[in-house]
Amino acid sequence: MRICCIGAGYVGGPTMTVIARKCPDIRVDVVDINAERIAAWNSDSLPVFEPGLEEIVRLCRGKNLFFSTDVDAAIDAADIVFISVNTPTKTYGYGAGSASDLRFVESCARKIAEVSRSGKIVVEKSTLPVRTADVIRQILSSTGMEFQVLSNPEFLAEGTAVRDLESPDRVLIGGDEDTEEGRSAIDELAGIYARWVPEDRIIKTNLWSSELSKLTANAFLAQRISSINSISALCEATGADVEQVARAVGSDTRIGSKFLNSSVGYGGSCFQKDLLNLIYLCEHFNLPEVALYWRGVVEINAYQKRRFAEGVIDSLYRNICGKRLAIFGFAFKEDTNDTRESPAIDICRLFLNERAQLAVFDPKVSKKQILADLNVEEGDPRVEFCASPYEAAEKAHAIVLLTQWKEFKNLDYKKIKSAMATPAWIFDGRNCLDHRLLGELGFLLRGIGKGNLS
Ligand code: NAD
Ligand code: UGA
Repeated sequence: MRICCIGAGYVGGPTMTVIARKCPDIRVDVVDINAERIAAWNSDSLPVFEPGLEEIVRLCRGKNLFFSTDVDAAIDAADIVFISVNTPTKTYGYGAGSASDLRFVESCARKIAEVSRSGKIVVEKSTLPVRTADVIRQILSSTGMEFQVLSNPEFLAEGTAVRDLESPDRVLIGGDEDTEEGRSAIDELAGIYARWVPEDRIIKTNLWSSELSKLTANAFLAQRISSINSISALCEATGADVEQVARAVGSDTRIGSKFLNSSVGYGGSCFQKDLLNLIYLCEHFNLPEVALYWRGVVEINAYQKRRFAEGVIDSLYRNICGKRLAIFGFAFKEDTNDTRESPAIDICRLFLNERAQLAVFDPKVSKKQILADLNVEEGDPRVEFCASPYEAAEKAHAIVLLTQWKEFKNLDYKKIKSAMATPAWIFDGRNCLDHRLLGELGFLLRGIGKGNLS
């Protein structure tokens, strides 16, 4: 059997690597139009940082895992073609700022129709608006060959992609349950996953349920974060501690303890875009009350980022002009080099508007990426890219922790404090540091939802 995956990004790369590892008898071709990205997948410096990924790529690459720009040949030779391309929020025309931009997905469907000399199973791996499979089916039907379209959304989280793929909570496969061909395509894909995923974790549904479940899962996850973040504001106003509240609330097994960490707001390429897409669909199907309900989740997230940045400015006597702020972490979460929709971007831009000087350290994000995200030229004195957290903190008025990289917990804060301006502030946007210890060292502190800490 041969598998082709169109799109060698954060999903296509890791997902196909794990399939190749688990199924040595299947040849997996990952193709992309981005030659630089493919070259990186074929080098020692992979374009995606994920713990454990490099080792597996090294084991499979060149054996049954191949990265290439030869999209046409790989599609034609495949029995199963995964579409794993980007589906960003549309920035133009109808639905701008809300609907999904499906041009990349559509061009994949057209490419499959154009170059295939036999029918295949086509799998939606990208996150898509409900009923997109209809579009793909229509395009493929023009070939007169037998294609089956399946929905198999991906639930991996960045930073834990390999673990999530090797041991998923569930694998979801949607297909045409009403026909024998549809059921057999679902079973064929399920058979691949069943090599390492217990069968009771493989959920089979119709196409529309599968497509909608992915958007709903992300909406529910984002909703939990906005819920706890909304309560963090109330904690700060009342002296309650959001971590204590989250623990008390989350120990109810009906609620559960995960995804209740209050923060500077969620980031990442998907929560925002998938929520906006869900809102767009609700509006499209004339369900304004439902759209409004989910809109609140997005608004609380924007509010939380603003609220945090304003808290920093307030604490520094409402004046950060010319003050050096050490930014600890720029990625949208720990263990990834991804900065898409990172809260750090909006927060740093607010600081730059106030004419602060930023000294940024992130263990995995490149200088080029940080400058691009902040829209700042190389050499601009307002943003310094630092090689260590110690360098960033030198002469800084405050440390602003935005990503919960583990290494931030175990720094020599005594040494850091002695190199900082006085008073030395720490704004812990992830509540991940030992506040009691830092208080003893003489730092002024502010966490998220931590009552009157300082
Ligand atoms: P990405 O931007 O990292 O990768 C997409 C790749 O597709 C790019 O390299 C791009 O060059 C390539 N591409 C676009 N059009 C192409 C074409 N016509 N032919 C060949 N290649 C093409 O995106 P991603 O983060 O991997 O996300 C892909 C999809 O998976 C999105 O729909 C996203 O919502 C979904 N998803 C992402 C995550 C995540 O953690 N990033 C998790 C679950 C689901
Ligand atoms: C998320 C989902 O967890 C995945 O299941 C999904 O497949 C993926 O989106 C997607 O569709 O792209 P990801 O965005 O990679 O994965 O990472 P998460 O761990 O969900 O974190 C998202 C954001 O929420 C991060 O900024 C994180 O710091 C923040 N977060 C997370 C909190 O602020 N509090 C929490 O309790 C958890």
